[in-house]
This record gives sequence, C-alpha cells and structure tokens, in this order.
Amino acid sequence: MSPMTTPVTLDTDKAHLLHPLHHPSAYAATRVWVSGKGAMITDSTGREYIDGLAGLWNVNVGHGRQELADAAQKQMATLAFHSAYAGGTNEPAIRLAERLSGLTYPSINTFFFTSGGAESSESSFKTARFYWKALGKPDKIKVISRHRAYHGLTLAAMSATGLPAFWPMFEPRTPGFLHIDAPDPYRFVNTDPGVSLGVAAANKLEEAILREGPDTVAAFIAEPVQGAGGVIVPPADYFPRIREICTKYDVLLIADDVITGFGRTGRWFGLDHYGIEPDIMQFAKGITSGYIPLGGIGVSDTVRDVINGVPAGKRWMHAFTYSGHPTCCAVALANIDILEREHLVERAAAGGARLLEGLRTLEATDCVGHVRGQGLMAAVEVVADKGTKALFPAQVGLTQKLMDGLMDRGLYTRVVMDCICIAPPLVTSDAVIDRIVETLRETIPTVVGAAREQLATTPA
Ligand SMILES: Cc1ncc(COP(=O)(O)O)c(C=O)c1O
Repeated sequence: MSPMTTPVTLDTDKAHLLHPLHHPSAYAATRVWVSGKGAMITDSTGREYIDGLAGLWNVNVGHGRQELADAAQKQMATLAFHSAYAGGTNEPAIRLAERLSGLTYPSINTFFFTSGGAESSESSFKTARFYWKALGKPDKIKVISRHRAYHGLTLAAMSATGLPAFWPMFEPRTPGFLHIDAPDPYRFVNTDPGVSLGVAAANKLEEAILREGPDTVAAFIAEPVQGAGGVIVPPADYFPRIREICTKYDVLLIADDVITGFGRTGRWFGLDHYGIEPDIMQFAKGITSGYIPLGGIGVSDTVRDVINGVPAGKRWMHAFTYSGHPTCCAVALANIDILEREHLVERAAAGGARLLEGLRTLEATDCVGHVRGQGLMAAVEVVADKGTKALFPAQVGLTQKLMDGLMDRGLYTRVVMDCICIAPPLVTSDAVIDRIVETLRETIPTVVGAAREQLATTPA
C-alpha cells in the first residue's frame, strides 16, 4: 500500500504534526478538509461548508480551479526550479514582475518575490533600513505599526504585529518596533475636537515620529484594512494624512496588501481607494489564490534607484532560495488571468456591497456593536453591552463559541476579539452571500443568549 492510500487518522496527526497556533486542546473540534469547489469546502465526513474566510483570506478565485493545477504541472515539467539569485532568472518570474508593474500602484514597478507574508514583512523592513543606510542615514532603523496589526509571525514581523497574544512566549521582541493606535471608527477615542477621527488617528503617527526622533524612524507599515485584527476599515481621510506625515518626516510608507491585494477590497490594491501610493508594498495570499505559496514586495522607482545605485560591495544582501520560484510565478500569472477574465475585482465590489448591506441589518440586534466592511472583507463585532462597548468576559469563551456555532450551521470562518470576520472567495454568488448573512442572524443571538445565561448562573 502506498503511503497516500494508507488511511490517516487524527491520532497520526497528533503524533506527528505541530499546527500553526498549536495546542492539543484544539483537537476536540478538528476537521479534516478534503476538497473544495468555488466558495464551498468539504470535510472528511462529506459535509459541505461555506468557506467564509476563503481559506485564510486567500482563495480569491475560489476552490477547484483546474487551470491553476495545469499551470503548475506545465511549469514543473519544464523547469521546476533553478536559482534566481542575481545573475540568474527565469521566464515566469520576469513575466510576473512585468505584469505586476501594470497592476500595482503607478510608481511601484520593481518586485522581489518571497514565499509568503511574513517573509514579505521581513523584506520590507530590511529594504527600508537598507534604503536609509544607502542614503547616509544609518540611524533610521525603527518601524512603527499599529495596535491590532498583523504582519506575520517571524521574529521581526511578530514584533510589528500589534496583537499582544502572539508575543509573551516568544519574547524578547526585536528592538526598534513600536505601535500606535488603530484607526478603528468604533473604538478609537478622538480627544482632539478640532479634527476628524481619521485625521486624529493618523496624527498619532506624527506624535510617535516626533517622540522617537524622525532621524531614527525608517518606516511605517500599515494594512489598508486591518484583517486579522478584526477587519478595521479606516475613515477615508486617514491614509491621505498618513501619506502627508510620512513624506514630511522622511519615513517610508509600507502598504501591507497581503490580504487587501488582488481584489479583496473591490480594487486591485488597498490604497487604490484613497489615491495615494506607498513607497514599498507587500503581497502574498491572493497572488496565487493560495494554490501555491508566493509573496513579495514591490518598491517605488525611487527606492529601486537607490538599491541599484550602491557600489557592488554594498549590495542588497537579501535572499530566499525560493525567490522567483518558476512554478509559483506561473501559477500567479494564471491566477491573475482568471481575476481579469472573470472581472473578479468588480465582483468583489458588488458582492461586498450586498454583504455589507445585509450585515448592517444585524446592527439592530442588542449584542451587535459594530458592522464594517470594504469589498468582500467584513466584520460583525459582538459585544456584551452596546452602551459601554464592553466585550463578554474571557471566561465565557465567546470567541470559540461563535466560531463553533457558525460551523455547526455550515459556515467556516474565524472570530477575533469577538469580531466575526467574513471574507469569502471573490466568486461567491449573491445567494451564498445572503446565506452567510442569514447564518449570522440565526447564530449570534443563540450563542449570546447561552453566554448570558451562563453568566447569570455562574456564582460571582
Ligand atoms: C496583512 C498580513 N500580513 C502578513 C501576513 C503573514 O503572512 P504569512 O502567514 O503568509 O506569513 C498576514 C497573514 O495573515 C497578513 O494578513
């Protein structure tokens, strides 16, 4: 019997696998995922679920695309791999970089490929430091990010990530990383009556730069919509003010488009909504719709010229074996073909508007504090008290109960800090979008009702 035909069990998994965010207690509700088609996924019992998070915010073109498998097969059979270190290259990597220069922000025309989001964060941070050193400012090394940001979990990326749950068992964090408040329209407290919430939140960046000293700050990194932190969509005047501040103090603006890239928000890239451009952008996930790992960064023409302008002895000594992997780049090209041919960016905008309209009707529920979204990326924030915006106490375990309740009703997604995140594949039909809304309408009051009962009967 070949290893692939031997039956696998969760005991074998337990014996041999460490999972992301590993803990044995998670086995109580483990599913073995077997197949997918469009917006649906099927587990080993044959049950079908709506993939409410497009895998992990990445399966933009939906599951089961033979075309992507064919692109990988063809490239593997031709040239599976050879090094793209300086002095070598390959056709799919060249074509993909050229293609991206036409799709991404106008001043971003030069790309470096990685295998995922965290490697892209590392590449952005190192490139920002390199840039300032090349310009004779070696002390500009700090990176500012936001609370509730997610930039990956390698050491520097984890240090930029603004979700403290990820830190304690891996401290110390990389020095030189600090956080400002997120521009959360629901929870940000604007103490400056003279300006809008968006401008006040952006001004936190100016305060931090001045406090640290502009000559010590290399870059500010921001997701256009904070995803894993609970889908925080900033007010429209936030990023224009951020751009102004970065320019004023010579701080590079890094757009983390790992989730927001490739159509998720209803535009190709997240800052396209605001008519501003970053100095460095990073992407992963949707570039291959998760069919094969690929990420990368794009640098502005100004940054590229600085990289190209140093003497050879000071070259950009940054590398990954799999940078420019031909098979991954070939799949990305086929994925972009699908996004364009099926107008999936426009579809994300239209489907997203329908989703948000539906979800907003849930705001009438006494435990739904806030609903927000942009394109096919939305969140419903569940609170214990709408007046104070207090969350349910941790002992209730509401986050897991919401996730389980939704899963029991056939909707797979993730809940963070009691924000139910919804980001299905961009191909999701109107009928399925409506089912997602109805599943939430049914699940939230039931789960919250049980949580309230539990609290009422728990001795103080
Ligand atoms: C905005 C953002 N940046 C970076 C990452 C890290 O990507 P990866 O898990 O591929 O390292 C993620 C992952 O969810 C992300 O959402």
